[in-house]
Amino acid sequence: MAEVHDRPPEQFTLRLRRYDPESGEAPYWDEHTIQLEPHRSVLEAILQAKDRFDGSIGVRCSCRQAICGSCGIRVNGEPALACHTHLDAAKSGAKDGVIEIEPMGNMPVLKDLIVDMDAVHWKKIRRVTPWLLAKQPVPEREYLVSKDSMVDVTQSMACIQCGACVSDCLAMEVDPGFIGPAALAKSYRFVGDPRDDQQFERLNDLAQDPQGIFDCTHCFKCVEACPKDVNPMGQIMRLRRIATGDHHIVDQNNGERHEAAVTGLVRNYGLLHEAELIPRSYGGNSWFAKFTPAAGKELLASFPVIIKGLLRGKVNPKIAVFGHKIPSSDLKSVQAIFDKIESRPERYELNLYITGEDEAPAPAAEPIAAGVTYESGGQDAPPTSPEGSVNQ
Ligand code: SF4
Ligand code: SF4
Ligand code: FES
Repeated sequence: MAEVHDRPPEQFTLRLRRYDPESGEAPYWDEHTIQLEPHRSVLEAILQAKDRFDGSIGVRCSCRQAICGSCGIRVNGEPALACHTHLDAAKSGAKDGVIEIEPMGNMPVLKDLIVDMDAVHWKKIRRVTPWLLAKQPVPEREYLVSKDSMVDVTQSMACIQCGACVSDCLAMEVDPGFIGPAALAKSYRFVGDPRDDQQFERLNDLAQDPQGIFDCTHCFKCVEACPKDVNPMGQIMRLRRIATGDHHIVDQNNGERHEAAVTGLVRNYGLLHEAELIPRSYGGNSWFAKFTPAAGKELLASFPVIIKGLLRGKVNPKIAVFGHKIPSSDLKSVQAIFDKIESRPERYELNLYITGEDEAPAPAAEPIAAGVTYESGGQDAPPTSPEGSVNQ
């Protein structure tokens, strides 16, 4: 790393998106060339431009260490923390060698690179009751929580509220009322916490809300955008699995029925049978669903789209009516996957945030006195909690 930090200063040109809504003027681009070592951050470059050329550049920052989450921007069209993006990397990702810097998306601009987090991001965070609603009675001392259950929520706890995922969420772009990736990841932090008393109520609320957990379109943009690997989409999928699989919440948005229809059709056909999807999502997970009034209404409403698809050759009438056919050996393999997963006594949730194994416990030392052992941590090592538990 020493060589990286020894590289001499270079010139970098920044193209900044400027906008002051109070001025009544349209947004415009502004260019400044600064001089810094390539390993320095885009934030340092913006601050140098502000310091040397134009003190009116609006930018928000605090810690400069990727901790506080206040310097979220877009660099070359991608969401990023300005303090966590090296200048050389930003330049190599620029189309014409000029680093393009814009405010985050999906939030109104207050000035230049500063967006109104309160109007969007924090409003949505407040929407999910972001605090523990403790089980009663509260124990006289601490709650004892299993280590596994805390590992399960650690990923969502790593969020620094930077708003990068909100900036890039495609569902929010279409439906600004969508609760969104950051707030739903925060919600999982409490839904997954065994000390919380309102798991069902929280999930029922998020499932019944038309802009809740079933409004996410699985686009993965929030996963790519997050600088802390919170995997907001993964947290939303967990919320869905607990809502449908554990609490069997049937929501007014047909999210639960739609999921059941997708999995049922893939199990039966090996591939999705698109023509069956709408009727089963609205009328129940069976071939007869199409004859129910709810499914008939949706089919009628979808008729213009289906006709358009047929005319443009996007829908194959034979496959639409009879579904895809795959070799029976392949179908058996697909069904074997379902059988294996569904026969598990417990659902297995992957947590890719924490990797590796705990260190092997040190061999127990000779007891010094009855009930007292000194472990490898030395005489000052703290007393351990009951096996498999952490104090919270
Ligand atoms: S995966 Fe869902 S929450 Fe994440 S960006 Fe896409 S639509 Fe938004
Ligand atoms: S989930 Fe990631 S991207 Fe979204 S606010 Fe939290 S840290 Fe930022
Ligand atoms: S200034 Fe704190 S995260 Fe960038």
